[in-house]
Amino acid sequence: MAPPPNSRSPGVLYWGPRLFLGSLAIAFLIHLNHPASSFSLSSLFSPNSESAITAITYCYTSILTSAGSSSEADCFSISPDGKFTKVFHSAEDVLVVGDNDNNEGGGMGGSSAVVEMKEGHVIPGIWDGHGHLIQYGEFLHSVDLFGASSVEMVRERVRGYLKERGGEGSDVGSKENWARGVGWDQMVLGEMPSAAMLESDPALKGKYIMLDRVDVHCTWVSQAILDLIPPESLPEDVPGGEIIREPGMGVFCDNAMDIITSLWPKPDAERKKTFLKSAMKELHKVGLVGMNDAGVTPTDLKVYEEASRNEDWWTLRVYAMIECGERNVFCPLKADSVKTQHEDGMLTIRSVKLFADGALGSWGSAMIDPYSDKPSTRGSLLVNGSTLESLARSWSNAGYQVNIHAIGDLANRYAIDALEAALKDSCPKGTSLKDCQNQSHRFRIEHSQIIHPTDQARIRDLGIIPSIQPTHATSDMAYAESRLGPERTRTEAYRMRSLIHELKVQPVLGSDFPVEPPNPFEGMYAAVTRKNPHTGKGVDGDNKGWYEEEALSLEEALAGFTEGVAGGMFTEGKTGVIREGAFADWVVLDEPLEVLAAREGGEGLRKIKVRETWVGGRKVYDREEEASEKVVNGGEEGVREDL
Ligand SMILES: *[C@@H]1O[C@H](CO)[C@@H](O)[C@H](O)[C@H]1NC(C)=O
Ligand SMILES: *[C@@H]1O[C@H](CO)[C@@H](O)[C@H](O)[C@H]1NC(C)=O
Ligand SMILES: [Zn+2]
Repeated sequence: MAPPPNSRSPGVLYWGPRLFLGSLAIAFLIHLNHPASSFSLSSLFSPNSESAITAITYCYTSILTSAGSSSEADCFSISPDGKFTKVFHSAEDVLVVGDNDNNEGGGMGGSSAVVEMKEGHVIPGIWDGHGHLIQYGEFLHSVDLFGASSVEMVRERVRGYLKERGGEGSDVGSKENWARGVGWDQMVLGEMPSAAMLESDPALKGKYIMLDRVDVHCTWVSQAILDLIPPESLPEDVPGGEIIREPGMGVFCDNAMDIITSLWPKPDAERKKTFLKSAMKELHKVGLVGMNDAGVTPTDLKVYEEASRNEDWWTLRVYAMIECGERNVFCPLKADSVKTQHEDGMLTIRSVKLFADGALGSWGSAMIDPYSDKPSTRGSLLVNGSTLESLARSWSNAGYQVNIHAIGDLANRYAIDALEAALKDSCPKGTSLKDCQNQSHRFRIEHSQIIHPTDQARIRDLGIIPSIQPTHATSDMAYAESRLGPERTRTEAYRMRSLIHELKVQPVLGSDFPVEPPNPFEGMYAAVTRKNPHTGKGVDGDNKGWYEEEALSLEEALAGFTEGVAGGMFTEGKTGVIREGAFADWVVLDEPLEVLAAREGGEGLRKIKVRETWVGGRKVYDREEEASEKVVNGGEEGVREDL
């Protein structure tokens, strides 16, 4: 439905003292269509016609327009195409209210502009700079193993899941529909798991079960799945991966996971759409308006493209990084077939994801020097330095932003080498690599977890963007220092504040969901306190943060989840801020952010509950509506609340 042209000059309402306006009680019920189309006014105002809204203005108790601003506005206007057209203070400015009594067939006439007074405190729409959307949706539909502190606890949760979903007519756990789970960690379980540990349970015996490790770098499978593996595809050693054989077969890590995933009956496009829909709904509940999807295959990106154009539930902005069907290869034809930039900002694909190494928890991250608690290993690279460099150059020359997963200090060194080589290839002579990086490339290092001081200086010189997950620091703090030793931990690991203050780079912040819960306020809490957002405790269970000297201010943490993400995807001024011309995305809180954060001696931040989330001028989450729906429906919809 297109709005009729606004042929009348608008009437003008002078917005005087707030009290006066409050008494006008202008509070229409608004239904907003998909941002791509126009707004429509509910029947309250003109029962027999859909009045065209040419502009709509919302006024809130307070509006924080960007992470760094002091709140100087309390109203904004948005256009039918879902952008902010004006951000202003009600006491100083003029509200323009049109009318549409020229509206043919409307009968009752009505306004073509609407002002709505609202309670609540607004902050800019929050982004997660690194997550995995389909996997998160799949997680919402699978067994949650986070925090399972024994193998028996894992068995119990899998039994519960099969009981709940495996009733009449369900084939969960069959050869065609494997039961999936994620979140185990041998450090938390107290032992390395095996297939036999599942097979020994009568309720699980013979079932097809595939459970990913907390970091998704290993998977643990049942005996039924092991039995599917042809003996010749079970080599002694897998380059860049590991088949765990003690205390028994069942766990496959990094490149060895391909042996399992090649057998796994993958969800079809419809099922993936179910995952995406569930994921978007959950993410809006914690204030997310968009996310950077850190590695999606061209096949899945075709599902994204179709769904983002046609499905009304596609309400989350997605900036997706391409990962060829096989990791660490150059697939320009496939990539070009999915590259896109939707006008309405709902889907952007112009970057690729490469992988240098594995995770610290499984001693998989590639280190310059051996692990302190396992001197026989330095971890492993998934590709060697020269391959990484040629991949980065090929992708950069093909016009893609290159984002490299790097955790260990050797992986980060090779990632920087590769990105520097790619910049040297494509930057014009006479421009500094740093300016060229900022203007045209925005190369990122995903995780940037452990970086040698020499390489930290290179990040500064090249302006490479570190993409950091603050909750990784607080989840890993339990074992990071034993892996790395005190010196490396102090000078290299999980840096945040020094990136901003010493290296002068603006990090992208995120969560890596479903590896960590997606709640950005938990991420901000971890960044600000360097304590675990679930327990509120530091590394020894005390109230002191872990390496507090690397903590961010609240403002810096919010900036990382708003403007920082924007810088990492070329949308500065368009996302993560409330200003004229930006996408009309915002989040409503019960109190100003800094007030909530200061509650309970600084513990308030991790407990924040979002009130409303808006994307492109459309309300996508409303806590109260959700609560009343729950009562009507008697609760559960099959999607878990607590993550
Ligand atoms: C890097 O790996 C590639 C592909 O596996 C191989 O062809 C090449 O020889 C390796 N280069 C070095 C320097 O090891
Ligand atoms: C990057 O470029 C943008 C836009 O040209 C500019 O506003 C910003 O200050 C630059 N950032 C850095 C770190 O040079
Ligand atoms: Zn990730």
